[in-house]
Amino acid sequence: TPIDYSGVWRFRELFPFAPEEKIVTIGEGQTKLQQANVAAKFAGINAGNLYLQYEGLNPSGSFKDNGMTAASTHANMVGAKVTACASTGNTSASLAIYASVTGLFRCVVFIGSGKIAYGKLSQALDYGAATIQIEGDFDDALLRVREVCEQENIYLCNSVNPFRLEGQKSIMYRVLESLQWEIPDWIVVPGGNLGNSSAFGKAFMELKQLGLIDRIPRLAVINAQGANTLYQLYEEGGLRWNDGRPDVVKSDTFYTDMDEQNRRASTLASAIEINRPVNLMKCLRALDVCDGVVREVNDEQILDAKATVGAGGLGCEPASGASLAGAKLLREEGVIAPSDRVVCILTGHQLKDPTATVGYHTFNAKDKENALVKRGITQAQFTNRPTPVPNDLEEILKVVRGL
Ligand code: F0G
Repeated sequence: TPIDYSGVWRFRELFPFAPEEKIVTIGEGQTKLQQANVAAKFAGINAGNLYLQYEGLNPSGSFKDNGMTAASTHANMVGAKVTACASTGNTSASLAIYASVTGLFRCVVFIGSGKIAYGKLSQALDYGAATIQIEGDFDDALLRVREVCEQENIYLCNSVNPFRLEGQKSIMYRVLESLQWEIPDWIVVPGGNLGNSSAFGKAFMELKQLGLIDRIPRLAVINAQGANTLYQLYEEGGLRWNDGRPDVVKSDTFYTDMDEQNRRASTLASAIEINRPVNLMKCLRALDVCDGVVREVNDEQILDAKATVGAGGLGCEPASGASLAGAKLLREEGVIAPSDRVVCILTGHQLKDPTATVGYHTFNAKDKENALVKRGITQAQFTNRPTPVPNDLEEILKVVRGL
């Protein structure tokens, strides 16, 4: 593939680590910012001022491809034969597609048990990834894959890999390009392992140092309430990256308590069901650079926002809905003004987690089998149930005419 076809590598001067002949690309990053007025209305932001950056349109259906093309390139540079990652599903789908399309390396993916949406698992299986399901959750799987990679000299492709973040900077370059380099007021992004938020902060810091922009947008990182380590440390604990590093001590104590109480992340937005974000330090720096805020939103807020994104015609997976839910919350708090220009990142494709989507639209609080009811959700604002009809023309016409 020619490198200029890639929506990542056409910005390669801004991450110049790879000789051109080593670049591994499958045409990732062909995504564009879209004005979203249904979502704007939902969030209480003036029409025309809310934008969605739909990264679900990448080859593997999530933003991860922006980073995986860069990590794969580096793996190619060092001649890695085996690569690995732990994943809540999207990283594994992305690594698996790069491994299968290029044939440059094999890949082993580690997932937690019962924690991965079927759309994502089916990708890893189809692309031929060796898939290891750990008894435990993503946090357990990530600790293990790091040990395994170290011992077996396997190339690790999680976002602890700095090349992942280099590639993910390009999401912000495309956002700015779409806005003709007018700086928006806010970038709102879901926070899981905090790779995206860290990459965005680095992108803006560098662009400013290079004199390509004169102002940095504010960054809002949105946690799911059941996976809110960053929120607890930053907003409630006042943790900052430049406090002479008491941050390390604070987060260490936090994790020790977490272990002692065996606290587990839990959210229907399974992509961000993470308690130990590996990029915590880098994200704290990004929040500093971008005068950032962190918020938490619950599963109901996430799924209502997700349904709104769908109603506006793009659709996304649950975790991505956190960004719009977060924008709405910040607007209600008065932190975001109605006249602010706001960019929400939609991190994953609508088809990644059909169970969550169908569960939402068929929501009935009394139905104990409903996937959402099982997770303690009490309401869904924008349901759209299929209407059951007997296979009889008259009966069908009655329903159609009554629409
Ligand atoms: N949204 C989606 C759809 C994701 O898959 C992830 C992370 C995030 C948001 C969070 O991004 O980690 O940069 O803060 N998914 C990882 C995975 C953990 O394994 O696919 P982050």
